[in-house]
Amino acid sequence: MNAKRRTVIAGNWKMNFTPAEATAFINEIKPLVAGKDACDIIFCAPYVTIAAAQAAAEGSHIKIGAENVHFAEKGAYTGEVSAKMLTACGVEYVIIGHSERRQYFGETDETVNLRTKAALAAGMTVILCLGEVKEQRLAGITKEVVSMQTKLDLAGVTAEEMKRVIIAYEPVWAIGTGLTATPEQADETCGQIRDALCELYGKEVAESTTIQYGGSMNEKNAAELLSKPNVDGGLIGGASLVAAKFNAIVDAAQ
Ligand code: 13P
Repeated sequence: MNAKRRTVIAGNWKMNFTPAEATAFINEIKPLVAGKDACDIIFCAPYVTIAAAQAAAEGSHIKIGAENVHFAEKGAYTGEVSAKMLTACGVEYVIIGHSERRQYFGETDETVNLRTKAALAAGMTVILCLGEVKEQRLAGITKEVVSMQTKLDLAGVTAEEMKRVIIAYEPVWAIGTGLTATPEQADETCGQIRDALCELYGKEVAESTTIQYGGSMNEKNAAELLSKPNVDGGLIGGASLVAAKFNAIVDAAQ
């Protein structure tokens, strides 16, 4: 963490929680995180769960986001949801480019870029996910991979719009596997992403962009990961479904 940048602890619920389950979860976590405002707290929820989570979060500093957004304003895109629809529902944050979208649903850097630009144009804040797969890390090309993803995914995004971009560095081999990047690996790769931002936008934008780490972050390893200067928060999957675990990660960020 770094005093110059906002620390953001976000949960990615993925395909978990019915509206009733989301309500119960938010009601449980709300008193636990009350007053812990040294970090922003966001839960990204399945579309059908957003309204219930928002209602439960009212009166707290917990924000509710979405897990994806389409790039078109409207039209024949069965199953998709537009940025205009999300903002009309009071949704300010959206995850884009999660590796599960890339891996299982054919998302490419091109569609990630289109979705990012559409969300930003609608006034949303984007949590842009990127990271290398295991073979790329073993081949020693992590820096090249994350630099390329940063440049492709942000093509056409302005320096002004970067104020509403959070990057989540998520090494694919660490997601849901229990394998966590070491604090040194997380710090080094977040730093490489920052270097790519510096090339694109200059030092000021690079130094002010929040870069989270995601991939098996939990109540045990969060403090050490967050102690690194280039790690400005976490994007948390499994541990964001258990109030006590998520709360412990928020505590580590205070
Ligand atoms: P896990 O924390 O379950 O590894 O998931 C990380 C993730 O994919 C967050 O987006």
